[in-house]
Amino acid sequence: MRVLSVVGARPQFVKLAPIARAMRGRAEHLIAHTGQHYDHNMSGAFFSDLGIPEPDVNLGIGSGKHGEQTGAMLAGLEKIIEDTAPDWVLVYGDTNSTVAAALAAVKLHVRVAHLEAGLRSFNRRMPEEHNRVLTDHAADLLLAPTQVAMDHLATEGLAARGVLVGDVMTDVLFETRDKVAAAPLSLSVPVEDGEYYVATIHRPDNTDDPERLRAIVAGMAKVGKPVVLLAHPRLRHLAEKHGITLDQGSVELSEPVGYPDLVNAVQHSAGVLTDSGGLQKEAFLLRVPCTTIRPETEWVETVELGWNVLVNTDFAALPEIVERTPPPPTDAAPYGTGTAAQAAVDALLSA
Ligand code: UD1
Repeated sequence: MRVLSVVGARPQFVKLAPIARAMRGRAEHLIAHTGQHYDHNMSGAFFSDLGIPEPDVNLGIGSGKHGEQTGAMLAGLEKIIEDTAPDWVLVYGDTNSTVAAALAAVKLHVRVAHLEAGLRSFNRRMPEEHNRVLTDHAADLLLAPTQVAMDHLATEGLAARGVLVGDVMTDVLFETRDKVAAAPLSLSVPVEDGEYYVATIHRPDNTDDPERLRAIVAGMAKVGKPVVLLAHPRLRHLAEKHGITLDQGSVELSEPVGYPDLVNAVQHSAGVLTDSGGLQKEAFLLRVPCTTIRPETEWVETVELGWNVLVNTDFAALPEIVERTPPPPTDAAPYGTGTAAQAAVDALLSA
């Protein structure tokens, strides 16, 4: 059995790590990188830190408008799929690389498996929401991380293709957490254990409207402890374009960090402030309170269990919300216990 994994953006490299390991000795596993992310700290660092084999091919597509970027991927991936003739194409998450690979494969009558299927924000403004819905409907096998995701698939008439495997991000997070447990903090700004927050902002809805971005940064600046802002290139470019100073008040600006450093930084922080999907869940799994700057979340369990609070307009209230008392401990495990990659590979190889 030959499986071609297609990845391109940072969160996909994290999901690929446990899958690549679980594939070893069980299938011929090829990796295609679209090149959507290309900076070392957005791409190469993840492969080396997480022990992922070098991609067999890198299309080097880079950045661009949605149609331009997705179209270039589609053309490039079609050729790769023809050349490598896989039995399955495995796609991850919800980026433009995901939908391009799913579409390229389905047109060539190659079976598609979607890892992290069934997530929905029901927000049609998000590029990720178009990508997920289109990918799920194109795919033959839907590997779902949660029961809520399985329920969404059923609502859309896709239940027969769904398999609940758990969340592979739990696998890689737990393993990394244990590895870095004793490592010193390696943030570029000096902070004391438990006396800082970790922040990331990169969603177009937050970065592209200057007034909204200005208000978010102003709210973060008034938080009572340092807020280490790990600035995605999109955020830096747009803040600069709109003349918004990011490192104001409590905000301490940093480059994005690799995965082990991120896990270590979150683990030792007082809380997380983000619009990232993955980070909301990582905060919960590390039992660190999270504040999410979005109108909704796909990871509803984090909110229901009291570990995540959504803030969409009242950014002046950020200090009070971010500095709230954490909820009582819980041993709830809606994202599984760290065995999802094995379950996903089992489901794929027996489908
Ligand atoms: C993409 C995904 C998003 C995911 C995020 C993780 C889509 C639609 N979005 O968003 O779901 O959460 O990745 O980071 O696929 N840039 C660089 N260097 C890089 C990568 C990006 O400078 O290595 C800059 C470019 O100016 C680019 C911008 O960041 O225009 C946005 O990159 P892009 O890949 O289009 O989307 P992301 O915002 O990263």
